[in-house]
This record gives sequence, C-alpha cells and structure tokens, in this order.
Amino acid sequence: MSITAPSTAPASEEAKLHDLVAALTVEQKTRLVTGASFWTIAAEPDAGLRTVVMSDGPAGVRGQRWDERDPSLNIPTPIALAATWDEAAVADIAALLAADARRQGVHVLLAPAINLHRSPAGGRNFEYFSEDPVLTGLLTVSFVKSIQSYGVAATLKHFVGNDSETDRFVVDAQIDERTLREVYLAPFEEGVAAGAWAVMAAYNLVNGQPMTEHPMLNAVLRDEWQFDGIVVSDWYAVRSVVESGSAGLDLAMPGPESPWSRNAALTNAVYRGDVAESELDEKVLRILRLASRVGQIDGAAPSREVVDLAAAPAILRRVAADGMTLLHNTGPKGTSTPILPLDTARIGSIAIVGPAATPGRTLGGGSATVYPEYLISPLEGIREAVDTEVDVHHARGLRFGTRHPLAEWSEFRADDDNPGLGIRFLRSDGSVAGEETRRNALFKWLGAFQPGVERAEIATIEVGGRFVPSETGPYLIGCSGMGEFKVLIDGMERLATTLALPDSTDPIEGLIRPPQGMVAVDLVAGQETEVIISHRVDHSALTSKVEVNVAPPSATEDAEIDKAVQLAAESDIAIVVVGTDAEIETESMDRASLSLPGRQDELVRRVAAVNPRTIVVINAGAPVLTPWAADVAAVLVSWFPGQEFGNSLADVLLGQREPGGRLPLSWPASWGEHQPSTLPVEGALHYSEGLLVGYRDPARQPETQFPFGFGLGYTSWDVVDGPTIVRASGGGWYVSMVVRNTGTRAGKYVAQVYASAPESAVERPARWLAGVRAVEVPAAGHARITISIPERRLQHWDAEKQAFILEDTSFRLSVATDAWDEGITVHVS
Ligand code: BGC
Repeated sequence: MSITAPSTAPASEEAKLHDLVAALTVEQKTRLVTGASFWTIAAEPDAGLRTVVMSDGPAGVRGQRWDERDPSLNIPTPIALAATWDEAAVADIAALLAADARRQGVHVLLAPAINLHRSPAGGRNFEYFSEDPVLTGLLTVSFVKSIQSYGVAATLKHFVGNDSETDRFVVDAQIDERTLREVYLAPFEEGVAAGAWAVMAAYNLVNGQPMTEHPMLNAVLRDEWQFDGIVVSDWYAVRSVVESGSAGLDLAMPGPESPWSRNAALTNAVYRGDVAESELDEKVLRILRLASRVGQIDGAAPSREVVDLAAAPAILRRVAADGMTLLHNTGPKGTSTPILPLDTARIGSIAIVGPAATPGRTLGGGSATVYPEYLISPLEGIREAVDTEVDVHHARGLRFGTRHPLAEWSEFRADDDNPGLGIRFLRSDGSVAGEETRRNALFKWLGAFQPGVERAEIATIEVGGRFVPSETGPYLIGCSGMGEFKVLIDGMERLATTLALPDSTDPIEGLIRPPQGMVAVDLVAGQETEVIISHRVDHSALTSKVEVNVAPPSATEDAEIDKAVQLAAESDIAIVVVGTDAEIETESMDRASLSLPGRQDELVRRVAAVNPRTIVVINAGAPVLTPWAADVAAVLVSWFPGQEFGNSLADVLLGQREPGGRLPLSWPASWGEHQPSTLPVEGALHYSEGLLVGYRDPARQPETQFPFGFGLGYTSWDVVDGPTIVRASGGGWYVSMVVRNTGTRAGKYVAQVYASAPESAVERPARWLAGVRAVEVPAAGHARITISIPERRLQHWDAEKQAFILEDTSFRLSVATDAWDEGITVHVS
C-alpha cells in the first residue's frame, strides 16, 4: 500500500513527516501505535513528538483525571444539542469544548458520537444526535469544523453500526450495503469530508467482521473517502495482531498493554512480514500528522486562540434552552390559553415536585460522564428566577432506582475534620504511601493513584470517615466496585466480600455499574459513626474503583407521594420534574422499558388530578412514554441539558426564551412491534428495517406520539413568499422562502425540507429529510431562509455501479414543520 498524501497539509510539512517516519526503527514505530497510557500517545523525542492526550467526550472534556478535583464544562448532551436543529449552536458549543480541552491539556476529543437512534431503546441515544443521517451529518460537520479550527481534533465515533449497546463487544450488525451507505455511513462520510482528524473504530462487527479489522477501514475510509487522519480503536476493541495491524487501524487504545504491544507482537509480525512495514509506516505517519495538527510536534504551526471560558455559562444556558422541546401546551381543561410561558404576575405559588427537581440529571452514564464545577437544579433555577414574587414549595415525591445511592460526601468528616471522605493508600506492610480528603464518595483511578503513588506499590485503599446521620433508624451502608472489599463500622468488620460480575459481562461495566455490598446499621440522628471501606488493589487490572454507598431509612414512598400531591393541590401551578438516570441511560446497556422508572407515571397522574395547571418537565436523554400527556397542561422535554439546567428551564418556563427544540427522533406512543429491536439473535443484530429508520418507516406512525421534527414555540408564523427552488451553480439546489413572525415574541423557525420521489423505480422512504435551516426572528419580523440541498441528498447508492447516482425521476421537496406535516411542495426540475 502506498502512503496517502493528505489533501490539507502543505507539501513541505508532509515531506518532513515522511522523513521523520523513515528515521525511526521498527521498535520506535510500534511503540507509537499502542497508547502510552489510558489516554495518551507516547512522546518520541527522535521525531520531535510530544505526548498527545486524548479525552472523552460528548458531554464535556473530561480531562485525564476523572473526578471532582478537575471540573469540566458539562454541555447539553448531544441529543439536546441536536434538538436545536441549529448548526450555529453546535459550533458555539464545540468552540467551548476546544477552550476547555486546551485548558486541560487535551489535544484529541473523543467526540462527536454519530451513531443513530435506530431504536428508541438504545442505551446511548443521549450521546448520539438523531435518528436521521442528514440532521446528524449537518451537525457533525459544524462540530468538526468548529473544534478543529482551534487546533483540537474531533473523533468521529463509533465507526460503524454501534447504534445500540447490547453485547456491543461481540454483536454482529447485519446491515445491507445500501442501508450502510445511505444511512449509517453517511454522517461519517460528511464528517470526513469536513476534515475530521480522527475516527474511532467500534467494538462491534459489521457483516461478520470486527470493525477494528474491517475492510471498510482501508477500502472506504482511506481509499474512497481519502481520510488522512488516524483510526483509533475503541478502548479494548483490538482483538488481533495481523488482521487489525493490516486493516487500516492506526492506534490501539488503551495502553501500554494491547494485543499489539503484548510480547512485542506487532513488532514481530512486522519482522516476519505478516504485517507490511509500509503499513506500520502509514500508521506512524498518520499519528505524526495528527500531532502536527494539534501542535504536539516540533515546528507545528501555533493554533488560533480559543474563546474565553468566562462566556461559557451564558452560552450553555442559551443553547440548553434552544434544545428544550415543548410537546404539548394547552390551558387547564376547558380553557384555550396555553399555560406556557408562565405569567408570574398572576401566580402566587408554585409547587416543584418529582425526583428530578433537585439536583436533576445533566448527563447520562458511562464514559461521557464529566464533573461540572456547579450544577443549577430546576428547583434552584426557578426559585432564583421568580425571586420573592412567587412562593416556591418543593417535595421530591419519590426516588427511583434499584441501586443503593452514593453517599453524600457532605455528611462525612475526614480525619483532618474537613467535610468529605478521607483516602489512604497503604503498602503491604501497612505503611501509608499517600493520603487525601475528597469532596466525593465515588473514586476511580485509571493508572497511578496520586502523583508519585504508583499502583504497583499499593496493596490496599481505605476510604471513609466519620458519618453524621441526619435520621434515626436502620441505614444500609456499604460499597460498590470490583474485587475484595471490607466494610468496617466503628472499627468492627461487618462485611468481607468479593464483588464480581459474570465473566461474559462488558468489561466497562465494572467501572460504570459495579456490584454492591451493603450491611444494615442502626443509627441515631447526629451521632457520629466511623465508616471505613477497605479495598485490596487488583494488580492485574489497570483501573480501580471504590464507591461508598449509604441508603437512609427513608419515609415510605406512599408518604412521599402524598406529600407532593398535597403541595401541588395547595399551589397555583404544579411543575413535576420526572426523568431517568445514569443507571437507565448509559453506555453498555440498552433500555429494557421506555416507561418512566418507578412510580413516576402515578405521581404525574395524581398531581394532574388535583391541579389542572400541571406542567411536566421530562429530564431524560431519550424518549419516555407519556400516557398522561393529554391530561396535563404542558409537557416540556429538557433532555440532559448540562450544568445550566435550572437557569435554562426557568428561562423557558417564564418566557425569557422560547423553547427552541424540535424532536431529533420520533417520540414513541408505545413500545410497538415496528420499533427495531436492540436484542441480537444468535449473535447477530439484523437491521431488517433497512432504509426505513425512525420517521422514514410509515408503519411506525401509529406507534408514534409526536413526530420527528415536532416542537412548539411561543409565537406564530406565516410563509409570505415562496418556497421557490433554484439550481445551485456547483450542483444541487437552493430552496428559498420568506417567513413572518406574526406573534408578539421573538421566536425560532426551523425550516425542514423533506424529499420524496413518488415515481421512483428504486425503493425509498415515503419522504426523507433533505435540508434544514433554523432562524431566529424578532416579534413581527421577517426572515428570508435559504436551504441548501446538495445533490447527494436525492441520490441513492447503486450497488452494481458502486456509486451514488441521481435517478432520472421527478423529485419533490416539501418545506414542513415536522415529518408528518405536508408542508408546501416544490418540484425539482
Ligand atoms: C466508549 C467510547 C469512549 C472510550 C474511552 C468506550 O467504552 O465506547 O465512546 O471514548 O470508552 O472512554
């Protein structure tokens, strides 16, 4: 194979990189193609290469240390970003990510995640943009161009077919060629064309071949799309030496131990000729090219100055509100004026109830987790916004979740008497190698424990402190993690256990949702009890995790619900904040149900029965079933909106800002038979719906409550001119129209252009999204909207010709407000 010439770098820079590769030994080269650590690519002084740092990911830049001591910006999660349907909003957020990456010394961000919402039950839907390849592609391009303009690499992941999580390491996604090309590869193709510097090869197989050794890496990515960046494996996804080494995979992560580095396997394969040295050279060249792009090689051009992070709160607040999606807005039964936005002048009291009212979820679970510096809960945000004008009352109503909750660090005192938990790293002779006090109850270590405290020298970790209970009664106290644990209460060993998961479990699950061990302890409010969790370090693992769990002797759920309902009955307005959590929406598993967990449906119904002015806020990263929607006054989806949650929510509820969201996926009415399953059958997941993903499948309409693209605002619109269509000089078309905001508030118009080809000789969806444009228009203002429709959006993949072609048939384009809206149609000539 010849070494590719990149399209972007100047020839002299490329020639220099070639020379650097040529000067390295095979050993030096193979050292670069496995990570130096969990997150880094090794430095190579002979090539002037400095360490390149990678970091997750889609909800914020995590940084190398994954805990509360290094807080990160927590942006609206990708589904919330996608709900804005706004490329400019995504570019603004990507610019913030670049600044936060630079602040944390991160060069490569492991985002955007651009698999599709093939099923509403996909466990990682919150991390992906949409069910639609065109909307996903548009936002991907905007993300990639923005973040990379500041010299921080974007990574398109997970290439490809990782659209659900069940058995993700071994599942074989069976996808026909046309569907692959037109649906699942399409956003990757757009991202590569936009110049992405990295692509992540997924865990799963596609049509029988693992993605880390798939022929598409060479044939499609490198040869056809001329991708000149690196292909990095998903973490632990490499499972071979020769096959993956020859397939176009450039970097095995994490390191330093990988199938390529173990026993110098790749070096030996190169010496034996099983992997061509030219292929190794290509990998190293790509790594050096990446390093040059992110400024980590001597002589690399300095990158553009990043945006000032002082602007972050305002941007996060605006974009989260722009993604909030209003599904239903009526008055109390029998009245016609929509309840939202709320008019505080006419409200004396608000009850805010529901399990997500405080603190609320800002992000889903898994590797995308970040620790924000602060989080504004719905309760805080609304309280602050209404100031003293309105009485705000709160009751949780209920908790849900099957896991024992994380301890509240503020209820502990460490040895130094500060609030928090103490940690001691002990050698095998019992001597203390390091100590710290942390404002957290969840600790994970990927590599060294502290600067200067290496894993190898530590035998045991002790975590704990003096717990000050706030209630009297039977508490459950214990820990979560993998391996050997002891729970000591007031110096007495109350539990000694080995926590493990079945062998077949996803290896990441031990970090995300480890098993728990608890003991019952009777406590008296205010009386301190010493709690110590002791964990023996497993030296065969790269990571350790200790979570301290405390379950209080809480009131019965019936009593909590009664209290919330009563508060709602006594208040003018009831806001019920319901949702899911990181246990339900997370990497490594799909959802088993689309219903709200626990008794939340019951809570909504009971509140609605006593207060006709009930507003339900859905704080989830993907759809939930809303069988009560018609019985409440309003339903607003906040998604997982990032750290400014409460402020954005208050802005929307009180009308400071319009809810700008449109559904990036069809919102199901039920778990219907036409929704694709995420459960493999005999190891294979058949994408048998083919091109008919989401709204493109008419059979799913009866199972859909709100269509793709749907979302209400606070104003009204007229199309006063057009739409008209003109041929673009460089190919494709422009659809153009003038809209008028006929209301009294500023608002956002999202023009959605759907294509159809009723006489087509090839199978096609009845209609499919072909272009989008979102504009903000002041009250009583006009805007001309021009939507670009590249030719590709009407083409189909011809397997015989192995190319996209434009069929000779008549196409129609309809400008509509959602996938079910007929809209106004123009004919393409
Ligand atoms: C996830 C990736 C992530 C990687 C590193 C994997 O388990 O699938 O999305 O980037 O871990 O944290």
